[in-house]
Amino acid sequence: MKGLILAGGSGRRLRPLTHTSAKQLVPIANVPILHYVVADLVGVGITDIGIVVGDTAAEVMASIGDGSRWGAKVTYIAQDRPLGLAHAVVVAGPFLGDEPFAMYLGDNMFEDSLDGVVDGFDGCSAARLLLARVDDPSAFGVADVAPDGTIVGLAEKPEEPASDLALVGVYLFGPRIHEAVRAIEPSARGELEITDAIQWLLDAGEVVEHRVLEGWWIDTGKKDPLLECNRLVLDRLGGDGVVVDGDAEVVDSTLVGPVVVAAGARISGSTVGPYVAVGARCAIEGSTVEHSVLMDGAVVSDLDRLTGSVLGRSAEVTGSPGDQVDLSVLLGDHSVVDARSSEGGTGG
Ligand code: DAU
Repeated sequence: MKGLILAGGSGRRLRPLTHTSAKQLVPIANVPILHYVVADLVGVGITDIGIVVGDTAAEVMASIGDGSRWGAKVTYIAQDRPLGLAHAVVVAGPFLGDEPFAMYLGDNMFEDSLDGVVDGFDGCSAARLLLARVDDPSAFGVADVAPDGTIVGLAEKPEEPASDLALVGVYLFGPRIHEAVRAIEPSARGELEITDAIQWLLDAGEVVEHRVLEGWWIDTGKKDPLLECNRLVLDRLGGDGVVVDGDAEVVDSTLVGPVVVAAGARISGSTVGPYVAVGARCAIEGSTVEHSVLMDGAVVSDLDRLTGSVLGRSAEVTGSPGDQVDLSVLLGDHSVVDARSSEGGTGG
């Protein structure tokens, strides 16, 4: 079986964080999401992997390389514009040929391995979907499942969902999907929807199997799910949950696990954690930071409390000593926030 990872598209919902950079490379516990995705596929023996890339191709290629780090062989597939998940399958057609494949959305993360999902799939049924119960089905593709367990219909982000079973970001397909993605028309949002292609398979009388997911699954494309995912992954750290790279410096500070601190980071006079990922070369000074993701080079200084925040690369937040500022922000790369009050600030 081949693997197809979708890492094109635009990071609209994580803007400004991913206005210019790939949302699939946002770090969870200091590791880019896409690295977990590649490792998941390799973990179930899928090593021939195509990655669909768009505007952020260079960044994705620099991060994943040829895949040899995971024992995989990666082929990059250019998609000129993000015209939909089914369009990504169209452009990947020559790579996929007639082999069954697992399509994995590059911004999704799963608690469990994909063993139970791929086991026994040989492409004889046209597709196997992974479903999960969600509170807000209208934000997803939704499956209508009959009492006997067969899928009878699918809808993409329906206003009136037929169930609370959302399609989650891993799909297995046999070769007939190629006919389906070529037969459908763009949706109201102008995309070739994979849900419409699967509906086409159902209408053609094909068997579409499904599995219902038990462990957690997160579509990391928004700030709160991203922080939640960071929390869940950090929870897996053993011991006291404090992992500090040997090249990081921690001075006069308290680290409250789980917390990870990457190389070159400097933490002084601060309390950091729980649930904080401090990226490479970050600086935290005179501050309290909880439940946050700090991407490489981010700086936090003299801030009473930063919580529930995602700071892009080299973003900076500055408070003033003694000021009680409680901040929760999503900051794009290189953004600067000055949280100093005019009276109490240190000026400048
Ligand atoms: O997360 C699960 C949901 O993913 C499903 O429930 C929906 O049925 C499915 O359509 C999809 O919805 P999203 O709106 O979340 O898809 P998004 O635009 O975020 O794209 C998912 C991934 O695919 C993301 O890594 C970007 C990539 N992509 C997206 C498009 C539209 C591409 O590589 N090319 C594209 O043309």
